[in-house]
Amino acid sequence: MAGHIPRAFIDELLTRLDIVEVIHARVPLKKAGREYKACCPFHTEKTPSFTVSRSKQFYYCFGCGENGSVLSFLMEYENLDFVEVVESFASDLGLEVPRESQNHLNKSAQKKPHRDLYTLMEEVTEFYQLQLKSQPQAMEYLQQRNLDSSVIEQFQLGYAPEQWNRLEAQFSTAYSQAQLLETGLLIQKEDTNNCYDRFRERITFPIRDKRGRVIGFGGRIMGNGQPKYLNSPETSLFNKGAELYGLYEARKSTRKLQRLLVVEGYMDVIALAQYKISYAVATLGTATTSTHIQQMFRTVSEIIFCFDGDRAGREAAWRAMENALALLSDDKEIRFLFLPTGEDPDTQIRKIKKEGFEQLIDSAVTLTDYMLDILQKKYNISTREGKAHLLNESAQLLAKLPTGLLKVQLLNTLEKLTNVSADIIEKHRTYTDRRIEPTHATRSLSEGEVRLTPVRYAVALLLNEPNLAEEVENPEKMVLYPIKGINFLVKLLEIFEDSPNLTAASLIERFRGSKYEALLIILTKWHPRHSDIQILRQEFQDCLRHIRKMAHENQLESLLHKERVQGLSPQEKNDLKILLSEMH
Ligand code: GTP
Ligand code: MN
Repeated sequence: MAGHIPRAFIDELLTRLDIVEVIHARVPLKKAGREYKACCPFHTEKTPSFTVSRSKQFYYCFGCGENGSVLSFLMEYENLDFVEVVESFASDLGLEVPRESQNHLNKSAQKKPHRDLYTLMEEVTEFYQLQLKSQPQAMEYLQQRNLDSSVIEQFQLGYAPEQWNRLEAQFSTAYSQAQLLETGLLIQKEDTNNCYDRFRERITFPIRDKRGRVIGFGGRIMGNGQPKYLNSPETSLFNKGAELYGLYEARKSTRKLQRLLVVEGYMDVIALAQYKISYAVATLGTATTSTHIQQMFRTVSEIIFCFDGDRAGREAAWRAMENALALLSDDKEIRFLFLPTGEDPDTQIRKIKKEGFEQLIDSAVTLTDYMLDILQKKYNISTREGKAHLLNESAQLLAKLPTGLLKVQLLNTLEKLTNVSADIIEKHRTYTDRRIEPTHATRSLSEGEVRLTPVRYAVALLLNEPNLAEEVENPEKMVLYPIKGINFLVKLLEIFEDSPNLTAASLIERFRGSKYEALLIILTKWHPRHSDIQILRQEFQDCLRHIRKMAHENQLESLLHKERVQGLSPQEKNDLKILLSEMH
């Protein structure tokens, strides 16, 4: 396996590329003020909300939320992974991609801090794959599940050996215990420093994010036993409510995906792929969230939910419908497919093969048909009371559906069904609207809005104008402030002090995969109202003053509290005196 690409090289590459040129060559851009615009290549739209900033070297879409640097653009647009993108740009520029020294699994000469968690996950994936090949029992299990070697390879299935401390034995020279713990691969025994492997004697399924990075694992017991599946916990890499198993593989195998089929399990995704239905994804032990749906609609305009034909399946379907309503629009489609009782996609595809299964998919009911069907079964509309109940519940659901032609039709259908005019149903809607809590879906749609605390405001200003970093004399002193996020601000100040020409996008690349990535992206999208450097400097100074004041107040408060409860040391008394005098 090739070594890590050094950060300095990525920085170098980013300074030689211009995001406007790169994107313009693929998606023609129009100048609009200080920025460039186009219709978004990642979702369907008629008016341009895809925006590219030359000064920040960053793109973002107000419509679908896609964003990132020139590297992420190419990853999304051409469906490549990070390394492929770096290599492709490097070869355009005639550069050789340097690698930090080769790292083989057993010998590792590298320093710990340089290896990141994604590399670790990738190495563990390979390690489990190797283990599988030397474990006949595990291979036999997969054969018994009728998996052929090409899908085993495609989904990189592996085997976690039975020892309790195999991963540390394998990786502790290259990675710290803390890193292994952070990936969720190790579990710490309560009140000790001892750890053990989470996955033992299980078939492993690496879970990749949309860009192909391994972020977690699923592990199935071979044969019967409990629990049947183990999953990685939520970690800084892995957010279950946002990730879909198989999405990366699906995008990889079909250049322009038309639709996605949502199933329940790992084995379903893989069995379908074996039979050449290569557009299935699975949620990871959670219900389908609106984030999942948004994520899928960025790639395709049609989603088919496939449910087992049992009670659990029907309940899951209703919840999925409720979550999906707010995200439907006239250019998107969601349909529901119910399998016969006792079947899941894995068993069904083996019986009826690709052709039969695709016929089932074609016969899947639309979301609104499904909704009306269930409501009519639930209420007896031959009575006025039954109609009222049905209309009342429909109105609440309708309130979630965005205005559009689909909604108009649904109102018409309800009118025909109940003889109550669409107008009245709509009015009832506005009445119930007020009582309905904002759904999770609508709330997460405005993910761009974070509360702008003074620390975040300082970060946002810095991202717009990195030179402001000079304004702070001794950033390291601020580290002691008892304020959330201060470490991050200090880190940024230090980075900008070292490299004042770094763009916001290069900075995001440095924090790729860290817990700060998401916040950085949100703050990068923000614009100051003024671009005048004098005014920005003024605002930045005000902001720092505010932060200092908050730090004082917090310190003061905690000292006063301590004084009341347990008394202060002489040093602390002195600190308190200074703080009090500074306040006045
Ligand atoms: P096979 O029995 O291997 O065919 O798996 P399946 O996908 O048919 O299993 P099932 O329908 O029982 O479960 C669907 C999905 O739910 C799995 O792929 C897992 O993601 C999850 N799941 C099932 N059992 C467990 C469990 O015991 N623990 C956890 N955490 N998740 C489970
Ligand atoms: Mn199954």
